[in-house]
Amino acid sequence: MSSPPFTQRTVKTCSEEETIALGEKLGCALVAGDVVSLSGGLGAGKTTLTKGICKGLGVDEKRPVRSPTFAMINDYQGKIPVRHADLYRVEGEDELETIGLFDSAIIGVTIIEWGDKLDRDDTSGMITVKINDLGDSAREIIIVAPRKVIDKAGI
Ligand SMILES: Nc1ncnc2c1ncn2[C@@H]1O[C@H](COP(=O)(O)OP(=O)(O)O)[C@@H](O)[C@H]1O
Ligand SMILES: [Mg+2]
Repeated sequence: MSSPPFTQRTVKTCSEEETIALGEKLGCALVAGDVVSLSGGLGAGKTTLTKGICKGLGVDEKRPVRSPTFAMINDYQGKIPVRHADLYRVEGEDELETIGLFDSAIIGVTIIEWGDKLDRDDTSGMITVKINDLGDSAREIIIVAPRKVIDKAGI
């Protein structure tokens, strides 16, 4: 199977709200089976972007989207199921197996904070987002996604 052409976009945001708005655009363009891998240091804005992606996917805004650092996985219901994982505390491949991240019980969109901890083989085909903290409220957000996702999101 050949992978679709991927393309890169770099967006600068200057507030939490702008990052949520960017996530919302991306979320609107996602379909079941898409996996989004988020990387960037603590406080970069991975959970904030996830809030926007969930909004775009129609997750009820009354359901708070928080970093599942201790639970490791939170599942939400939007127009399709949304799985939100945080690998910050995951150590090694064995533990990744045990948390059942890719169990097929949920068929929807998967969003993974600290997704750069995954093995490279696992990440082929994923949408990747790298967030760089530029200081104060400025963030550089680098998105690599299939061209059709970027076009549909309008980013
Ligand atoms: N442009 C921005 N985008 C995202 N978050 C921002 C921005 N500017 C400031 N912030 C703040 O940075 C923090 C990001 O936290 P969070 O999304 O939990 O990061 P992470 O999940 O990467 O650890 C929040 O307190 C948010 O208000
Ligand atoms: Mg987080």
